[in-house]
Amino acid sequence: MGPSEGPHDHRGHELIDLDGKVAVVTGAASGIGRAITRGFVAAGAKVLAADIDEAGVWRTAELCDDPTAVEPLRADVSDPDDVAAAVETAERTWGRVTTMVNNAAVSIPGNVLETSVEDFDRMLAVNLRGVFLGCKYAVPALLRAGGGSIINMGSVNSLVAEPVLAGYTASKGGVLMLTKAVARDFATSGVRCNCICPGWVDTPINLAHAERMGGIESVRDALPSWQPIGREGRPDEIAAVALFLASDLSSFMTGSAVVADGGMTAI
Ligand SMILES: NC(=O)c1ccc[n+]([C@@H]2O[C@H](COP(=O)([O-])OP(=O)(O)OC[C@H]3O[C@@H](n4cnc5c(N)ncnc54)[C@H](O)[C@@H]3O)[C@@H](O)[C@H]2O)c1
Repeated sequence: MGPSEGPHDHRGHELIDLDGKVAVVTGAASGIGRAITRGFVAAGAKVLAADIDEAGVWRTAELCDDPTAVEPLRADVSDPDDVAAAVETAERTWGRVTTMVNNAAVSIPGNVLETSVEDFDRMLAVNLRGVFLGCKYAVPALLRAGGGSIINMGSVNSLVAEPVLAGYTASKGGVLMLTKAVARDFATSGVRCNCICPGWVDTPINLAHAERMGGIESVRDALPSWQPIGREGRPDEIAAVALFLASDLSSFMTGSAVVADGGMTAI
């Protein structure tokens, strides 16, 4: 069983009602995006689950309480046509889109000397242009739905830098400021836009970075010294924040950076 297949993965749905919501979730084949998809479905939403990993999004659908509430789609978030198609497919299938979760990302560790121009461009294309495209194509659909919520996946690296993660950190800083820009532009139109900033969560995206830090086991050993809660986060603990931001309970929140990091940025 992988880290995003556990029983915890749809915690919170008993508390939060997403009945009537229609969401597009990118990066839905793994980790946090899979947990968000499972949580949203358990809370009553319909979800278009998009990812470059087609087999992975089909597996995500199978893991949901109601697989018929999920439409899996292969989509590359750096490609404008794919992102537009994801929003269109959700709107065609369920008649509206109320929620856009721009979650897909890649991480290629390195300082600026080690990071190739190609790798830097790739991180910006997926992590920042992907979020831009998600906002660009979702906003008109959310307006047609009478309003909605955009949830962008930032990182603690939207707020603070850490060693050998230059391109990723730059992209995540951009995600936070793009979130604020979208929030300001559409605040009076019923479209809210917020950013989640997770700390270290147990998913595959961290493996290359962990190698640079001496391997995943030594990262886990040292973790209490920099993530005060003393353990990795779980994908469902980030999904719980997304459930709240997708729900009407967060109706006064827009332009926020919601930190869920086990205290990492409190140090
Ligand atoms: N895991 C952490 O510690 C952590 C911390 C802070 C922020 N985040 C953020 O959480 C989000 C989810 O990451 P995760 O931890 O679940 O990692 P993950 O590697 O488990 O999932 C990332 C998903 O994005 C998909 N993806 C990559 N490139 C894509 C593309 N071009 N188009 C569509 N899909 C693509 C991958 O196939 C994968 O399914 C990311 O934005 C990541 O930066 C994660």
